[in-house]
Amino acid sequence: MKFLNNSLLKKLRDYDETKTAFHMPGHMRNKETFKTLSEFIGLDITEIDGFDDLHHPEEILKESMDISKKLWNTEGSFYLVNGSTSGIFSAVYSLTKPKDKILIARNCHKSIYHSIEVFDLNFEYVYPKYDESLGIFLSIDANDIEKILRKNSDIKVVLITSPTYEGVVSDIEKIANTVHKHDAKLIVDEAHGASFGLSNYFPKSSIQLGADITIQSLHKTLMSLTQTAILHISDKNLYSKIRKSLEIFQTSSPSYILMSSMDYCIRSIEQNGENLFNNWRENLKYFYEKCKNLENLRVLSNIILDDIFELDNSKITILTNKTDISGYELMNILRSEYDIELEMASFKYVIAYTGIGISIKSLDKLIYALFDIDKKLNLGVCKNFIFNKLLLKRKLSIKDAVMSNLTEVFLKNSISKISGEYVWAYPPGIPILTPGEIITEEVLNLFQKYREENIDLRFSKSKCNDKINIINKK
Ligand SMILES: Cc1ncc(COP(=O)(O)O)c(C=O)c1O
Repeated sequence: MKFLNNSLLKKLRDYDETKTAFHMPGHMRNKETFKTLSEFIGLDITEIDGFDDLHHPEEILKESMDISKKLWNTEGSFYLVNGSTSGIFSAVYSLTKPKDKILIARNCHKSIYHSIEVFDLNFEYVYPKYDESLGIFLSIDANDIEKILRKNSDIKVVLITSPTYEGVVSDIEKIANTVHKHDAKLIVDEAHGASFGLSNYFPKSSIQLGADITIQSLHKTLMSLTQTAILHISDKNLYSKIRKSLEIFQTSSPSYILMSSMDYCIRSIEQNGENLFNNWRENLKYFYEKCKNLENLRVLSNIILDDIFELDNSKITILTNKTDISGYELMNILRSEYDIELEMASFKYVIAYTGIGISIKSLDKLIYALFDIDKKLNLGVCKNFIFNKLLLKRKLSIKDAVMSNLTEVFLKNSISKISGEYVWAYPPGIPILTPGEIITEEVLNLFQKYREENIDLRFSKSKCNDKINIINKK
């Protein structure tokens, strides 16, 4: 393709192999000794002459990031080689100092909680609307943010996730207006929405709707390699702070393989995005049309749920809540009987994640499997329970809790104690319990439900799933 002529990938492929390498990486581009690695070695260099420097971009990487800036219409777009996680750390670090208070949505990814821990921040939660019958977080209401900001004039930053794993989008324009009215900044974790703002079929990106900083995982939905992401700013004044933060939270040896995949992704979208997005859109429309005829299973995009501002249709969320199987069971059936591997399951749904590379062949395979399974299912109430929104009381900041003396106890002995660790299901990596919160019977019942479905919960400290670290009061 023509665009490849200017790309980093082409430049790496053309790199003069006669040049003798006395520089990193340690394979020294020696494809004879390391034959099995040769496919990678060919593209793997360090910041040698002519290949620019991610931390001081002036040439090809600058040009590439400038294309991103234009595509999303931002005041600055920065490539990330350490995932959205490094973008979230950089954004939070740039806008806060220790002990500041930030407002986060309860359904934030663990990377946000980790940034709160590391930077020793205080925080309040805003709870998104919640569907108790499905256990799905819905959109965040700007009025709820308004109420919290009125009560807490010391909040400096608001950080929310939109879209969620399930594709639920919040009204970012309204939320941004609310946040700015209170002189705070808005960071949006758009890790699952790298396609946003690039095609009319998908929602606008939050960076185009008033967010100050937006972070997108390019690897999740676009055709860039795992670990790659992008951070956008809408305010020029943030430029140097973000640059400095990125130097802290990213490796000083960014991989040229990863960077060339981001460059390829952005140049492809610039040159051929319309075709790629049209294809994706048409494939999804075809899928949803077919799935209207399912009898027992249902697809979230085909039904109307109150309290969803907008839905990202690239996430195919298949609901099992009117059937006699759980999402976990559906995921297992698809894996073992139809060779289909999904992104994630929950108690009452599964997510078949699609990205820009999704093919009609794959969707046809999924459609066939769903209809085959659907006809064997019984309509009935899924054996699982109603999800109550967990409202846990906090006794200590996350930082103070993890720095405290801890004791490991059996879960059954932990009620009313203060947790010294995080617990989450992965994916989605949203903490169910965080350090500093009081453990309740309700939380333990939820852990038990996961166990009944054979789902391993991840405890950040305890090595076995029936024990937990609590704060030692002595
Ligand atoms: C909502 C959300 N935010 C942030 C992240 C972190 O992204 P990355 O894995 O690109 O660091 C994830 C990862 O799954 C996520 O789901």
